[in-house]
Amino acid sequence: MNIRAIIFDLDGVICFTDRYHYQAWKQLADRLGIYFDEKINNRLRGVSRMDSLNIILEQSSKEYSEEEKSIFAEEKNGIYVKLLNQMSTSDLSDEVRETLEALRAAGYRMAIGSSSKNTKLILSRIGLAQFFDAISDGTNITRSKPDPEVFLKAAEMLHERPENCLVVEDAKAGIQAAYDGGFYSAGLGEAAGHGHVTWPIKEFSDLKRLLIS
Ligand code: BG6
Ligand code: MG
Repeated sequence: MNIRAIIFDLDGVICFTDRYHYQAWKQLADRLGIYFDEKINNRLRGVSRMDSLNIILEQSSKEYSEEEKSIFAEEKNGIYVKLLNQMSTSDLSDEVRETLEALRAAGYRMAIGSSSKNTKLILSRIGLAQFFDAISDGTNITRSKPDPEVFLKAAEMLHERPENCLVVEDAKAGIQAAYDGGFYSAGLGEAAGHGHVTWPIKEFSDLKRLLIS
């Protein structure tokens, strides 16, 4: 094993924007009179904005046109971006910051591999706009996780092969993507329970134990 680079998912790994996704989707679902709860929200982890909306609309008996759906997705994103704009560098935990710094000092190259089109906004809010060597996100992919595209693009940007990269994820869809792309993976939360995860971990800082000898 020769891991030289690390590709981090963003939402739920580097920062906890997943609760803002929930609040924004909940507001939209309530307005449309559609049932939505935390359990359904968990199915949206790692999934693109439009695929997430389609999962939410499974609870509705109405059929919506593609045009209506894109209006709903925009509406949700408007609410979500307002919440993101309230974030600051205090939304980056000491644990994540210190771990990233230790991994950098140990010589690892690092990238983001996220389905989110708001990746750059989030990174700048939490003070990490300049930290990563590459950013692969919802703006440079055509297929979202569990497809490996976002991680393959990140590896390409880093000029590394998948077998030399570790993917860090909180979503089962992300572990599947890592596995299908030929990457090692570390899984947090529900991702730790995926059958193909290489290393289930409990805390973000466990990466130091795993990667720094
Ligand atoms: C992922 C989240 O990181 O980004 C998903 O886990 C979300 O829940 C997806 O749907 C797309 O995000 P955005 O910011 O482009 O709407
Ligand atoms: Mg995530």
